[in-house]
Amino acid sequence: MSDSIDLGAFPRDFAWGTATSAYQIEGAVTEDGRGPSIWDTFSHTPGKIDNDDHGDEACDHYHRWPEDVSLMQRLGVDTYRLSIAWPRVIPDGSGAVNAAGLDFYDRLIDALIAAGITPSVTLYHWDLPQALQDRGGWTVRETAEHFAAYASVVAERLGDRVTQWATLNEPLCSGWIGHLEGRMAPGLTDLTAAVQASYHLLLGHGLATRAIRAACPGAQVGIVTNHSTVTAASDDPADIAAALRMDGHTNRWWLDPVYGRGFPADMRELYGVELPERAGDAEIIAAPLDWHGLNYYFPVTVTGDPAGPVPYAREVRLPDVPRTGMDWQIDGSGLEALLLRLTEDYGIQKLYVTENGSAFPDTVAPDGEVHDPERTAYFEEHLEACARAIRKGAPLAGYYAWSLLDNFEWAYGYDKRFGLVHVDYATQKRTVKTSGRRYAEIIRSHRQIHA
Ligand code: IFM
Repeated sequence: MSDSIDLGAFPRDFAWGTATSAYQIEGAVTEDGRGPSIWDTFSHTPGKIDNDDHGDEACDHYHRWPEDVSLMQRLGVDTYRLSIAWPRVIPDGSGAVNAAGLDFYDRLIDALIAAGITPSVTLYHWDLPQALQDRGGWTVRETAEHFAAYASVVAERLGDRVTQWATLNEPLCSGWIGHLEGRMAPGLTDLTAAVQASYHLLLGHGLATRAIRAACPGAQVGIVTNHSTVTAASDDPADIAAALRMDGHTNRWWLDPVYGRGFPADMRELYGVELPERAGDAEIIAAPLDWHGLNYYFPVTVTGDPAGPVPYAREVRLPDVPRTGMDWQIDGSGLEALLLRLTEDYGIQKLYVTENGSAFPDTVAPDGEVHDPERTAYFEEHLEACARAIRKGAPLAGYYAWSLLDNFEWAYGYDKRFGLVHVDYATQKRTVKTSGRRYAEIIRSHRQIHA
């Protein structure tokens, strides 16, 4: 065991967790009244997903959840971050509630609590009901309003047992990757649509925050955003300006409005798209939060790219740096820097790392084990970064390893494996990887320090 993690830095009540999302693990996409989502449509569009994979069966968690709860117990986690599939609960996105969909999550929450695992519920992890997409999706204001109504339904049903709520997961991916780059559902490549979608996603976040609080007094409400540190490739002023634009696109656009600063003026000018603002929206978007979730995977280094797409900055691939199977640079210092920025610049008083992890091409060895030293090293490096940030004042209350299980990695399909637990998709057999055992050992060691 590496002794390099300063476990003494983590507070006694630090929450050790693991995370998943509905479409990536559940499968059972037509069962018990679930309606189609934009990811069903996108993944069944030829050529969109590697190997033409889709989430129809995924990890079959919809049927195997008792086994998955037991796996979490074996790992010894305190908390589990899951997402609710909006199309299971309200198949058309608005209107009739599907009781069977809510019942599924009701049973899962009860089982988690009985296993001593605190649920942390995310309401939107990208699976918009297709019926709403057909009416404009996130480019129209009604979707934000329907999202709040859905949040109310779920909070009313589960709020007697769930206190930890997140509205959105990674709105950057829904907004930019889904509407500007076209690599995720709904697959658009339209700047106007992307800016409108980003606005309505954050409006939906604010409206849902209010709805959860109304349905569930005492709820702890937050948002989960993904960020990267951005470094200029050189000290050429053009690269420095490019880094500022990339920082605006990746970080400030998603944080400033949520923390009462409004959408950044430099980026509004750069996009040149009128925001669909109405009086009072800025206050709704900046609804006070109880916590913030940071998803961190990699840093970026950029150079100016005047002929490229907004934000006219292009990532430079650094040679000779360690990378994951996603080709993402491994650098824990980016996590430390972002935790400190959220603390010092945005004044956030309670933080979670809601996702952090790495994909590598794991296989089951002849001894029946999945040996994944690179993933173990990735976790250790990033937990060391968390410890440094805590020592410097970051109010970090928990860490969720991404992911509990290998799962459907969106446009990359099933080849990219992020799990602490290996899944053989032919048989659905689960095997705890050596990184999973190491994570369990870290959790136990931390408890012993405070015993
Ligand atoms: O698998 C995804 C997850 O759904 C959102 N955050 C990043 C992960 C790895 O790409």
